[in-house]
Amino acid sequence: MIIDGKGLSNRLDRNMKIEVQALKKRGIEPKLVVIIVGNDPASQIYVRNKHRKAVKLGITSIIERRPEDFTQAELLALIYQYNQDETVHGILVQLPLPKQIDETAIIRAIAIEKDVDGFSPANVGRLFSNSHEHYPVSCTPKGIMTMLSHYQIDPAGQHAVIVGDSNIVGRPMGALLLNAGATVTYTHILTADLPSFTRTADILIVATGVAHLIKAADIKPGATVIDVGMNRDENGRLVGDVDYEHAKDVAGAITPVPGGVGPMTITSLMQQTLELTKVANR
Ligand code: GUN
Repeated sequence: MIIDGKGLSNRLDRNMKIEVQALKKRGIEPKLVVIIVGNDPASQIYVRNKHRKAVKLGITSIIERRPEDFTQAELLALIYQYNQDETVHGILVQLPLPKQIDETAIIRAIAIEKDVDGFSPANVGRLFSNSHEHYPVSCTPKGIMTMLSHYQIDPAGQHAVIVGDSNIVGRPMGALLLNAGATVTYTHILTADLPSFTRTADILIVATGVAHLIKAADIKPGATVIDVGMNRDENGRLVGDVDYEHAKDVAGAITPVPGGVGPMTITSLMQQTLELTKVANR
């Protein structure tokens, strides 16, 4: 089975568009601020895609572009300005940031109720302690949970193996799966004999940025394989961290690249913007 992230994201977007219209009828206008500092080419594309999606759904999107030499103090002042602005529901600072800026300090400065990426220590703490409160979580893992749910893949009791220990994907992904009742194993670049772990996964999540790291032989027959990778191969083609062409014959369900996890990430960001908007107006 191919997990069609693109198709699912389109269906969810249609529902969100209706929800945005309903909110606006009540005088509530969801608003997202995206701050991008410097010229990282991939970030430029991500930010443009987020903005387009927001506009398509009727969500107000403000992009704040600042030059490569923008200072940490200036960025903090910009964040504080939007923390205070009651018309803004979500603040996202695109990563990576230029080297003169301390990412940790920036993430910590975003008001936790507007932290639409779910990166702030308070929200990460809520995730890892499985808090009953509403809190935002990192958008890529959130989108993956939505896909699993829509394809009726219940993580409870299953062995989930995460490959990749990033704060954006790997770590929050493991926490979400643990909260959903999975048995979770974290692996990463230093893991010795990685295939001996991946071959035991009922649900395999791969987020390493290494093209075709996972081969068909590394996958348990029938497993669910979620490929977060977005790499360019030698011909400039977009490929994942999983050797999809061979893996699809072994996996029970698998996400393609492109058209799997990617579209769901942006849809999750928009869902989360709406959730923060609704919480702010409760
Ligand atoms: N850079 C790569 N992925 C992300 C993300 O999910 N959020 C932010 N803010 N920056 C990113």
